[in-house]
Amino acid sequence: MGRLDGKVAVVTGAGSGVGKEHALLLAAEGANVIVNDLGDSGDETVTAITDSGGAAVCIKANVADWATGETLVNAAVENFGDFHILINNAGILRDAMSFSMTEAQFDQVIAVHLKGHFVCARAAAVFWREQAKSGNDASRRMIHTTSESGLFGGPAQANYASAKGGILALSITLGRELTKYGVTTNVVAPRARTGLTDYIQSMAAPEDPLDFDVYDPANVSPFVVWLCTDQAKDINGQAFIVGGSGIWWMRNWSHQNSVKLEAEKWTLNDIDRHRDLLFGDAETGVPKFEAPSF
Ligand SMILES: NC(=O)c1ccc[n+]([C@@H]2O[C@H](COP(=O)([O-])OP(=O)(O)OC[C@H]3O[C@@H](n4cnc5c(N)ncnc54)[C@H](O)[C@@H]3O)[C@@H](O)[C@H]2O)c1
Repeated sequence: MGRLDGKVAVVTGAGSGVGKEHALLLAAEGANVIVNDLGDSGDETVTAITDSGGAAVCIKANVADWATGETLVNAAVENFGDFHILINNAGILRDAMSFSMTEAQFDQVIAVHLKGHFVCARAAAVFWREQAKSGNDASRRMIHTTSESGLFGGPAQANYASAKGGILALSITLGRELTKYGVTTNVVAPRARTGLTDYIQSMAAPEDPLDFDVYDPANVSPFVVWLCTDQAKDINGQAFIVGGSGIWWMRNWSHQNSVKLEAEKWTLNDIDRHRDLLFGDAETGVPKFEAPSF
């Protein structure tokens, strides 16, 4: 008995890296999986699943294309009879400092991450709302993929950090719209050695293969898959960093302090006078990069 027997999941960008591991673990827990990626790599993920006795179908499609959302939902329903879990994961990097970034670098990253997440989420929302209205009260899950760059800001990643920050706001917005249709929506920022990060030396595999491989992408999947189970039905609109042996629950943009006049508009001089009340002795430079350490 798997925890997700009979469920149907779509995983975007599941031909490699973190998405592949999500697809393998979803299948190992009994879910039927639509494996999406751009090229042939998705076929290898499907073979790995079917060789282990699971069920999966590969759909080659670009998540930045509007039609892909409906294609993936239809593939789930036509192959496996329903659709319960969307893992938005596909991604690319086109790093450059803001002053060197080209229009193409900016547009490509926003298209794959932010638009790609919305394209699939929108198609899922259309299907799940119809199902709920026709009396199908199955629970549904969306897991989106952000990054510490999106949580904290990342130099040379204005495109990527903007898209990943947008995904955090998108997830909460989807939660406000779709909770009443039985949908939960959460976001995970992975830490893993993949095609995207294999240039980072500190993420190299341990020299001794018996040592725990902190950056193995498979370390991210158990929490993502757990969010898809009934045990996580009350976790909604939340964000996490996941990697190695760690799970960090994140919240940001909290209210720090406020000042207020009595029913009148601020003047610049008023603001001068209230400056110290608003900020006190607090640090007002660029916020520190406070990523949790392992
Ligand atoms: N690896 C990390 O440490 C890390 C950190 C933060 C965020 N992330 C995020 O995790 C997700 C997975 O990345 P990864 O590290 O596994 O990298 P990866 O390169 O191994 O996997 C990304 C997959 O997405 C696919 N893809 C790219 N564009 C696509 C498109 N338009 N349509 C469909 N598929 C597409 C790629 O072909 C690839 O198989 C990404 O969203 C990435 O931004 C990863």
